Amino acid sequence: MNEISKKRDGIRRGLGSEERPLTVDLWARDSQAKSTAMLESGNYEPSHQQVDYTRYYSPEYAKLEFEKLFSKTWQIACREEDIPEIGDRVPVDIGPLSFFVIRSQADEFKAFYNACLHRGTRLCSKHESGGEIRCPYHAWEWAVDGRLKRIPSHCDFTEITLRNGGLPEVRVGRWGGFIFICADKDAPSLEETLSVIPAHFKDFNPERRYTKARFRKLLGANWKVSQEAFQESYHVVGTHPEGLPFNGDSQSQYEIYRTAHGHIGREIVPSAIPSMHAPSSATTFEATFATAFLAKSWHYPDFPLPQLDPAKDLRAQLGDWMRAAYKDAYHRDSGQPDSAMIDSTLYFMFPNFAIWLSELIPFVYKFTPHESDPNKSYFEVRLLMPYPEDAPRPASAPCIEIGIDETIVEKAPAFNFLSVIFDQDMGNMPLIQAGVKAADPSRHHSMLGAYQEMIIQHWHETLDEYLAK
Ligand code: FES
Ligand SMILES: [Fe+2]
Repeated sequence: MNEISKKRDGIRRGLGSEERPLTVDLWARDSQAKSTAMLESGNYEPSHQQVDYTRYYSPEYAKLEFEKLFSKTWQIACREEDIPEIGDRVPVDIGPLSFFVIRSQADEFKAFYNACLHRGTRLCSKHESGGEIRCPYHAWEWAVDGRLKRIPSHCDFTEITLRNGGLPEVRVGRWGGFIFICADKDAPSLEETLSVIPAHFKDFNPERRYTKARFRKLLGANWKVSQEAFQESYHVVGTHPEGLPFNGDSQSQYEIYRTAHGHIGREIVPSAIPSMHAPSSATTFEATFATAFLAKSWHYPDFPLPQLDPAKDLRAQLGDWMRAAYKDAYHRDSGQPDSAMIDSTLYFMFPNFAIWLSELIPFVYKFTPHESDPNKSYFEVRLLMPYPEDAPRPASAPCIEIGIDETIVEKAPAFNFLSVIFDQDMGNMPLIQAGVKAADPSRHHSMLGAYQEMIIQHWHETLDEYLAK
């Protein structure tokens, strides 16, 4: 335990009751064999730092982030199923930084700086395929593994040979069907950066899933403002009040897993119980039924709703029903505990990747800065669904681009009831971005909650460490 954490001993870790238990109590009575990795607790307590608002809009601060953060850390690039054939490639833009990832062999991927060696032209601007990488300007060509193939009038470029004219590479790492890249050859490995994630997600099997739906929305807010909207469930009471009867936001659990090179934040929001902020008339029976109804309407339309017995453990009944529905849909056992079937557990990997360990809302998030304006950013969401045991992996859904004034409900209805919730979150974005700039200059910082906003605290602590290097 670090020094600061001793000072935090007195903080209250969630607000629950006997009828509306804290996450820790719900997980302790899981009806299935325990996923021991998931039960491992966080090991770090952040300092209770407040965040200077300047870092949400200052161009100088954004420049530092590109130099010392985004070009030094592992960044999610895409999923393997996005580029299924040899030669398939996609651009990976992170603000002004740009790379592209290509499938160079059946089971090999490479990533390159997205700039022609001749005069800098961008080499990949959209999903492309084919046996060579050809610059659109003067037609220099490289093979899919980055080796130089051809330069028109090569005699004019005597210093460039087939040997030294390869495209400059950046590092590629893979986990669970995801492809990550890192432009810093001295950065720690992807494995060190992922830290506890592979062990915790073992039974969730991200590699046996596919991108069923995907959107990328342009936001009128800094990338950190956007990410922080998901790093706590404290905002449910203000932003998503209709969720209070079946979402235990106040009973949520927050943890930090810190290793030498890994920073993971975990937020667990229990479902199928009312929040402590819900009216006293809200019942666990109704919350359980509502959770089953949402799961059926979105993921299991052909599976009958459960017949819940109020005299028995409702959470165990819901867990069994979810596992039965999963088996009916995918022809295999989910092999996962109630916590994975029912609750919403979100893991953040520093600095800007997040993945839900949740069969109800199996999303993957990527928060990226805008290419030139720190007051804007992109929020990308994938719906990472399983597919039937006996079927081939379905094709990856194309990314739907959503403009700054467009809604997710209208452009990406495949996200079902969550598109409404996302739009509620998105509605806050321009208000936050405007407000942090308008704040009293003598009190130009946030007031983060000691427990419920501890992931945000840790992220800024870690950001400080990176920018100070
Ligand atoms: S800039 Fe690419 S070939 Fe000339
Ligand atoms: Fe939200």
